[in-house]
Amino acid sequence: MVHHQHQHHRKQDSADPTSLLPLPAHADHCKCARKPATALLRLLLLLAVLSFSFLISFLSYSLLLADDVPLQAPTSDQQLLPCSSVPNNSLCCDRSARRTDVCFMRGLVRTHSPSNSLFLVVDSSNSSASSKEERIRPYTRKWEPSTMATIDELRLRTANRTDRHRCDVHHDVPAVFFSTGGYTGNVYHEFNDGILPLYVTASRFDRKVVFVILEYHDWWVSKYGDILSRLSDFPPVDFARDRRSHCFPEAVVGLRIHDELAIDAGRMANNKTIRDFRAMLDEAYRPRILDIVEEEKKTTMMTTKSQSQSQKPKLVIVSRNGSRGIENEGELVKLAQDIGFRVQVLAPKRTTELAKIYRALNSSDVMVGVHGAAMTHLLFMRPGAVFVQVVPLGTDWAAEAYYGEPAAKLGLKYVRYAISARESSLYREYPRDDPVLRDPESVNAKGWEVTKKVYLDGQSVNLDLQRFRKRLVRAHGYLLARRSRNALSTSEERNSV
Ligand SMILES: *[C@@H]1O[C@H](CO)[C@@H](O)[C@H](O)[C@H]1NC(C)=O
Ligand SMILES: *[C@@H]1O[C@H](CO)[C@@H](O)[C@H](O)[C@H]1NC(C)=O
Ligand SMILES: *[C@@H]1O[C@H](CO)[C@@H](O)[C@H](O)[C@H]1NC(C)=O
Ligand SMILES: *[C@@H]1O[C@H](CO)[C@@H](O)[C@H](O)[C@H]1NC(C)=O
Ligand SMILES: *[C@@H]1O[C@H](CO)[C@@H](O)[C@H](O)[C@H]1NC(C)=O
Ligand SMILES: *[C@@H]1O[C@H](CO)[C@@H](O)[C@H](O)[C@H]1NC(C)=O
Repeated sequence: MVHHQHQHHRKQDSADPTSLLPLPAHADHCKCARKPATALLRLLLLLAVLSFSFLISFLSYSLLLADDVPLQAPTSDQQLLPCSSVPNNSLCCDRSARRTDVCFMRGLVRTHSPSNSLFLVVDSSNSSASSKEERIRPYTRKWEPSTMATIDELRLRTANRTDRHRCDVHHDVPAVFFSTGGYTGNVYHEFNDGILPLYVTASRFDRKVVFVILEYHDWWVSKYGDILSRLSDFPPVDFARDRRSHCFPEAVVGLRIHDELAIDAGRMANNKTIRDFRAMLDEAYRPRILDIVEEEKKTTMMTTKSQSQSQKPKLVIVSRNGSRGIENEGELVKLAQDIGFRVQVLAPKRTTELAKIYRALNSSDVMVGVHGAAMTHLLFMRPGAVFVQVVPLGTDWAAEAYYGEPAAKLGLKYVRYAISARESSLYREYPRDDPVLRDPESVNAKGWEVTKKVYLDGQSVNLDLQRFRKRLVRAHGYLLARRSRNALSTSEERNSV
């Protein structure tokens, strides 16, 4: 729910929604803008004015999409990122990205939570370090002032060494400071704003790192415990509640973020990709899944599936209740079974254990769901699997930006199923020629409150099964072909040995 609020904020930020088209189109504009003006003076003048406005739109465009790339830097060279090398006894903040600020401290870093401070303690004899203070809210939604206002602000200060500066707890590994406040509570935001940026920022430490968390929630730490233990060998610190002073040789305050549910390998110190992230998830959930399997073996008589059942491709419906639910879900299940899928209906709740969701999706070939935060679980699908996103009226832009594009980057086969007006519950509520049915973009232009009320909270889907069937049949064919191709290549491998 919250999730959509920012989407539309974001969209409105840009005033012109077309400014969020993919980069290449934009790069073309940019070239046009710089075309040499060799004609008449008037033409020159006209061109100059045009170029200027193109340039302006280019700049605001870059600011929108640049994320962590400082505007002038080539993306592949780590060295050119601001603060990429921080000398000892210094403090450096990179405020060049649109989505996030990140500060780096090296030397003796000491926490003082009563004053929300981190001190960089330097020797007074060594006065090269002058007194300095930076402030930062370590959360990845910098462009949303109302969200950022809810995040605690940290003061990063240099201080001369005195007797007062003792350490209650010494750590010999760096710390990463971040907040689990803001939109935490919505699974999309938990991954997009928190877990993925944490991976982007901290994976280079190879678990030799302590996480210090602002707006700490016990439930968050236990929900994501499997993942946290793959990223850090140490228990996390609750910054506000733990009043002891912790000392670190280095601190990173704030998290880097690249794109929606995505990782740009070119900007990773260890060129990790979203697939590496997924491989990390697999390792994170393996121990728990093995436990669950053991438990099942003990409690249930092994109901051995028939060979033919387990060979069928598996389709998971990620189900929603109420708004944006599938009204004829029961028929959809039957349809998918008739086509030749094993079908599982999964209705994830906020309390559903992630390992169980991971297990269901990691073993499936197709995931079907209506656009919404639960689509975030596409991260649990194996590359090569199929993701069918049902796109209700008025949600096209968000569906593509937040889930369609990330799915493709992960290597899923993405199938977008944009419903027709007749498949929307709104068809029963509005006259045929109402803009709500005919022109959702014009309705969305009225603002987020309208979008939320009409399309997000007020719409469910009744799939045209004739039409939907075609997509499923194609997906089924694709999976069987892929399977026989794989079988062929493994048997070729075997023969060549
Ligand atoms: C950095 O500074 C700290 C404290 O001033 C010192 O203990 C440490 O040895 C220094 N590290 C390096 C690599 O110079
Ligand atoms: C500051 O301390 C470092 C090592 O701790 C030393 O190399 C440097 O010369 C000192 N600078 C000054 C101005 O004393
Ligand atoms: C430390 O003390 C020196 C003078 O002794 C002063 O010049 C310097 O600014 C002080 N540094 C900080 C961080 O307070
Ligand atoms: C990562 O980068 C290093 C150095 O640039 C390169 O040697 C290596 O092949 C890259 N790894 C992958 C998986 O691309
Ligand atoms: C996920 O699926 C793959 C392929 O079937 C399997 O090798 C892997 O062990 C599974 N991961 C977990 C955690 O069960
Ligand atoms: C879905 O909603 C209906 C009524 O609105 C309720 O009876 C049912 O238990 C709900 N199912 C789930 C899985 O929450």
